[in-house]
Amino acid sequence: MSVPFQTAVVTGAGRGFGRAIATALVAAGTDVVGIARNEQDLNAVRDEVGTAFRPLAADATDEALARDTIREHRPGLLVLNAGATPHMAPVHEHTWETFSRHWQTDTRHAFTWIQAALKEPLAPGSAVVAISSGAALGGSLLSGGYAGAKAAIRFLRNYAADESDRAGLDVRFVTLLPQLAPATGVGSTAIAAYAKLQGVSQDTFIEGLQPAVTPALVAKAVMEITANPTSAPEYLVTGAGLRPNE
Ligand SMILES: NC(=O)c1ccc[n+]([C@@H]2O[C@H](COP(=O)([O-])OP(=O)(O)OC[C@H]3O[C@@H](n4cnc5c(N)ncnc54)[C@H](OP(=O)(O)O)[C@@H]3O)[C@@H](O)[C@H]2O)c1
Repeated sequence: MSVPFQTAVVTGAGRGFGRAIATALVAAGTDVVGIARNEQDLNAVRDEVGTAFRPLAADATDEALARDTIREHRPGLLVLNAGATPHMAPVHEHTWETFSRHWQTDTRHAFTWIQAALKEPLAPGSAVVAISSGAALGGSLLSGGYAGAKAAIRFLRNYAADESDRAGLDVRFVTLLPQLAPATGVGSTAIAAYAKLQGVSQDTFIEGLQPAVTPALVAKAVMEITANPTSAPEYLVTGAGLRPNE
């Protein structure tokens, strides 16, 4: 699938969904600046996909990083995927720090990059795809403030799209809401805790999710959205594929 952008930035590109998204973009001929804190993970991606993947080891919540990366690389696509690993516990066993973890990483980095996308701004025709979660619609009993933090990303998208329209920027903002994916850091951590809560094995729990979301499906979703300039504002990503959330 061809992607109409020469350069993309993918946050959280070292593992999981972000790695799969970066890999798919490079395969489609797009240069990718891949951001995560673990340099070894990023180098492993570059070793696998080639030098069109440029590792940038940094904290994606950093405002100067967002501004400088946009100025230097002029990306036509931002994929805001970085997210913390949840602390899984019932609400009365969370501390405020564990409860608010996803606000400090997931939401804060989306806020930072969306602001930079509007302020710099990105070039007309650019797109920003932010990864929220299916949990933003239904809650997530054991992962503290995760669902609320991911819901805030949906609102951020709405506000940014309004501002883009008002200023005539022609920058498209889209949110993706993937369902639980067993093969990645966030999904496997959640599944271990929910299986334990239900008193079933992780394999049994995963069987109940089939067909489950995979990193490849999320990457395919991003590719479909970026190739379609009239995409909907928000999509659910299920094991059966991509569906506008109406
Ligand atoms: N997996 C699921 O079931 C699921 C479902 C719905 C939504 N999501 C969302 O999808 C995204 C990816 O999930 P995943 O399961 O693929 O996660 P993952 O396998 O744990 O990978 C997370 C990536 O984000 C990076 N990251 C975390 N904090 C960062 C920071 N401050 N700065 C830069 N990079 C950072 C990590 O690298 P470093 O630690 O090296 O920085 C890693 O590369 C997350 O936002 C998650 O909430 C996941």
